[in-house]
Amino acid sequence: MKIKDILSKDITSEQKLALGQVLNLSIPELILNKEQELTDKNYKKYKKIDKKLKKGLPIQYILKKSYFYDAEYYVNKNVLIPRPETEILVEKTHNLIKKEFKNQKLNILDIGTGSGVIAIALYNLNNNYNITATDISKTALKVAKKNQKIHNTSIKFINTDLYKGINDKFDIIISNPPYIKDNSNKVEKKVKENEPLLALYGGKEGLDYYEKILKNIKTILNKKHLIAFEIGENQGEKIRKIVNNYLPNDKVLVEKDYNGFDRYVFIKGSKLDE
Ligand SMILES: C[S@@+](CC[C@H](N)C(=O)[O-])C[C@H]1O[C@@H](n2cnc3c(N)ncnc32)[C@H](O)[C@@H]1O
Repeated sequence: MKIKDILSKDITSEQKLALGQVLNLSIPELILNKEQELTDKNYKKYKKIDKKLKKGLPIQYILKKSYFYDAEYYVNKNVLIPRPETEILVEKTHNLIKKEFKNQKLNILDIGTGSGVIAIALYNLNNNYNITATDISKTALKVAKKNQKIHNTSIKFINTDLYKGINDKFDIIISNPPYIKDNSNKVEKKVKENEPLLALYGGKEGLDYYEKILKNIKTILNKKHLIAFEIGENQGEKIRKIVNNYLPNDKVLVEKDYNGFDRYVFIKGSKLDE
């Protein structure tokens, strides 16, 4: 069997990735090397991955890798697969930091870090940042720590409920918490059946985590601060109300994603009411 015999079967991009992984070739390289013969061993390896793909397993969990902000990360079923929307959260947050905080050495907290991608991408953008990241899931933190090793970063990973037990003060708090409504019927089967439920659901309205995070947030905030959230579609105005309740002097910006849905909230404070 040659590469071209498999490619001619109109295979999906995920199957191409699988074939590339087995042969250690990128997708363009597969085409360039289409006359290459597959050994029996490699063909069997490819078929094994293909079987899992056909069962509906995400390619990232099969290959144990995913990409975020132009870098490769280890992932497994204990962490959410990083999403492109979250790359934009990192980018927007980093731009705001540069604008509002100049070159200060900043204390940053990432709540619900999962695979660690937000914290690690921010560190890679500026390794002067002093970053702490939390998750309630021990198995997720194992993945984050593995990624810390791969990327050679120095982030403090803490296993806790949101920021319980943390006494430091932060300039920047960033979080992509679980925000899907508990009974949502919009979640793809593939997501529902494979990704950790703890990373997905945020209560009846999907807003529980924003409420829980913001409720006592003053205790860990420096006066001048920025809070950056990824949020669910149509949650912007509801979250604005929660913020107004707990941080009435802060400025709230709701921003949309490329599909026109609410996706980000940025909360800016220069003075906290004591
Ligand atoms: C939507 S995922 C985000 C993961 C990662 N930050 C990303 O953007 O790809 C939410 C994460 O929050 C974690 N989580 C859920 N409840 C939590 C809690 N009470 N305290 C801390 N982390 C929590 C989950 O384990 C999961 O890793």
